[in-house]
Amino acid sequence: MTQSYRITLLPGDGIGPEIMAVAVDVLKVVGQQQNLTFEFNEALIGGAAIDAVENPLPKQTLEACQQSDAVLLAAIGGYKWDKMPRHLRPETGLLGLRAGLELFANLRPAQILPQLIDASSLKPEVVEGVDIMVVRELTGGVYFGSPKGVFTTETGEQRGVNTMAYTVAEIDRIGRVAFETAQKRGGKLCSVDKANVLEVSQLWRDLITDLSTEYPDVELSHLYVDNAAMQLVRWPKQFDTIVTSNLFGDILSDIAAMLTGSIGMLPSASLGADGPGVFEPVHGSAPDIAGQDQANPLAQVLSVAMMLRYGLDQPAAADQIESAVLMLLAQGYRTGDIQSSDTTVLGCKAIGETLIQILKQG
Ligand code: IPM
Ligand code: MG
Repeated sequence: MTQSYRITLLPGDGIGPEIMAVAVDVLKVVGQQQNLTFEFNEALIGGAAIDAVENPLPKQTLEACQQSDAVLLAAIGGYKWDKMPRHLRPETGLLGLRAGLELFANLRPAQILPQLIDASSLKPEVVEGVDIMVVRELTGGVYFGSPKGVFTTETGEQRGVNTMAYTVAEIDRIGRVAFETAQKRGGKLCSVDKANVLEVSQLWRDLITDLSTEYPDVELSHLYVDNAAMQLVRWPKQFDTIVTSNLFGDILSDIAAMLTGSIGMLPSASLGADGPGVFEPVHGSAPDIAGQDQANPLAQVLSVAMMLRYGLDQPAAADQIESAVLMLLAQGYRTGDIQSSDTTVLGCKAIGETLIQILKQG
């Protein structure tokens, strides 16, 4: 039986449309092979939406996302909108999408592919075999806590305020996702906080510790965030699954991503309790190379694989895409960001075409 899915596409800004085009072509080919059909619906977000309708997350976009089975997002942002007031910034659209779909769990894998080991800035023996999953809380913490804003004090001075806050329920639900993720991986979970200074982190640590009694097969450890950042570059192989709050996860996931040498290879999944997830590359919109056919579309393609695996429960199709990407790299094809000696550099489109040939050869 053919299974049909409604997918909302959010190409966004910069290199977004180019990498999205490749990902959609790949998805169509895999769909034919796996008996899956897709109904695509493209919507505006970020800078593109600001330019068109002066709103980084138009109501129609959020509604289209809510009514779909999964959302594939490329990238948002660019210099052009950096100086705009906050409600007219592309990032505000992304945060609104996360909040609007209640995507509290963000999975960011960082895996060193043997084919790309030379791309890392760390020594091969340090990064070889690294396979980390960062589980980042995505709809709470200092990104969303109140009060927030710039206020005038009694003495007439301006004071900027954000609040790092978590409820028990918010910590519990991200904790459960993290323990379950660790169970399916190497069975190790490291919870990262700043419990030596922050009350919110002490609550986090206490609850994650309590929760661990329900997951006796997972080995739990705790690190302070400064130490975790250091350990990630010192000896990344000690980590399997990491769980942390929104801001710490933002920072640590960029460090984990760069261990692999190029942020251009890494996908992510943002999931809620139910309803559609959002699948997107970890990298940004790279406005400096937009429209030049130089972008690496592989993080977007691997985000399609994550969408099939975590959003649509089609692991066979996900495996097929991931194997094709490995094959492409094994054959020596690269975009400029991950090139090394004796590799063939191709543009964004040509990488997509080569990947499709590999998929069709089975
Ligand atoms: C990310 C990005 C976003 C974040 C920005 C663009 C709002 O850095 O997805 O990691 O801080 O969450
Ligand atoms: Mg970030």
